Amino acid sequence: MSKSSRLPGFYKLSLEERAAVVAELAGLTASEKAILMGKGLSPAQADQMIENVVGIHALPLGIAVNFLINGQDYLIPMAIEEPSVVAGASFAARLVREGGGFTTGSDEPVMIGQIQVLDVADPQAACSDLLAHKSRLLQLADQTDPLLVSLGGGARDLTVRIVEDSPSTSRRGEPVEPSGRRAVGPMVIIHLLFDCRDAMGANTVNTACEALAPEVENITGGRVVLRILSNLADQRLARAKCTVPAEVLAFQTFAGQTVAKRIVEAYALAANDPYRAATHNKGIMNGIDAVAIATGQDWRAVEAGAHAYAARSGVLRSPLSMTKDSSKGGRYTSLSHWSVDADGNLVGTLELPLAVGIVGGASRVHPTAKVALKILGVATAQELAEVMAAVGLAQNLAALRALATEGIQRGHMQLHARQVAIAAGATDDLVEIIAGRLVAEGKIRLDRAQELVQELEAGDEATS
Ligand code: MEV
Repeated sequence: MSKSSRLPGFYKLSLEERAAVVAELAGLTASEKAILMGKGLSPAQADQMIENVVGIHALPLGIAVNFLINGQDYLIPMAIEEPSVVAGASFAARLVREGGGFTTGSDEPVMIGQIQVLDVADPQAACSDLLAHKSRLLQLADQTDPLLVSLGGGARDLTVRIVEDSPSTSRRGEPVEPSGRRAVGPMVIIHLLFDCRDAMGANTVNTACEALAPEVENITGGRVVLRILSNLADQRLARAKCTVPAEVLAFQTFAGQTVAKRIVEAYALAANDPYRAATHNKGIMNGIDAVAIATGQDWRAVEAGAHAYAARSGVLRSPLSMTKDSSKGGRYTSLSHWSVDADGNLVGTLELPLAVGIVGGASRVHPTAKVALKILGVATAQELAEVMAAVGLAQNLAALRALATEGIQRGHMQLHARQVAIAAGATDDLVEIIAGRLVAEGKIRLDRAQELVQELEAGDEATS
């Protein structure tokens, strides 16, 4: 996008006016604009996507503004049902803009495919044999997707490790397995590292793992069971960083430096307590999932990867592996990190796996996802992952700033009141009027909203 994403008053425009601004900035055609306005996925298209289709389930698509990432402006499409998320991201992006915007980076788009080998007589020897045949196995993997190889992707590495099956125990250390369950025995686990370029890569990696299985059995003398990607895509991390000048954080009676300090204090709980970390990370994922859904990503894969990564105990190296390894697990913690720098400014960073694509899957089939990708204007899957990391960090900042000052309920309740008014049957102008009354009365309840709908509709009829 060449023009600025700083659009003061965007939220005050009507829906049609906002769509017109976005269509103009993103260069949408008339039919692409019509897709935004309800001419999106048709029942017939949906019927081609999954099984037993009976209709369409729609979500609001909002645009977060103000995002400046690596010096470039982005309009961020977000599909989400929760009020405050799009407003929060836009607000935080404006604060970050004051400090020069987000800087982001990412790893090459390398996915992990796992192959599980059982009944191996000598697991250590099997590992050595597999490594001795590495180049042939990588060649075999490449043969499964010559097009991807011609585009610069393909098999990058193969690592091996031994995983012991330890029957589960209760918190008190008692066995919890059904009686008669015997340990499976040592498992040789192969990780095939495959560069999927602009694809999310699930199909590519699964195909390659299935293709390698017979050769793996020949080499090891074992029996292959699982051949499937890992959603803990820790070779494919995206990172975002922001520095927010303390003065722009000033709010009500809180000085900017006080807000920065309180944000770091709030972060400290997420860093040290899984109960808070789960909520803190949920706030980050509010932003990331909304972009993932808007752009047709497998958001369950993104969620699984994020939370598994949040539970790693740091980046480890296993003796048999040359690459990053999160296999030891650890304590669930915050995905982001917040501190105050020497100048008193607030510094935030976020790192997480983001296995996303801009070719294949719903990103190329779902009409609204295609338009959302055009609005976002990313050229590669890595760029998309970096934008998503920046949105996650913005969302986290918005939540922490509110939580560390006035709390989130005032802002939330105003938006929540609109939903209660709509649920009570309010339409058009009545939505805002009733929401305002509910907030003013401090009674954001469905029964009160229904009373107001009846009262105000009766009043309308009397005057018409
Ligand atoms: C609500 O959807 C998200 C928050 O709970 C996140 C947080 O607590 O950091 C506000």
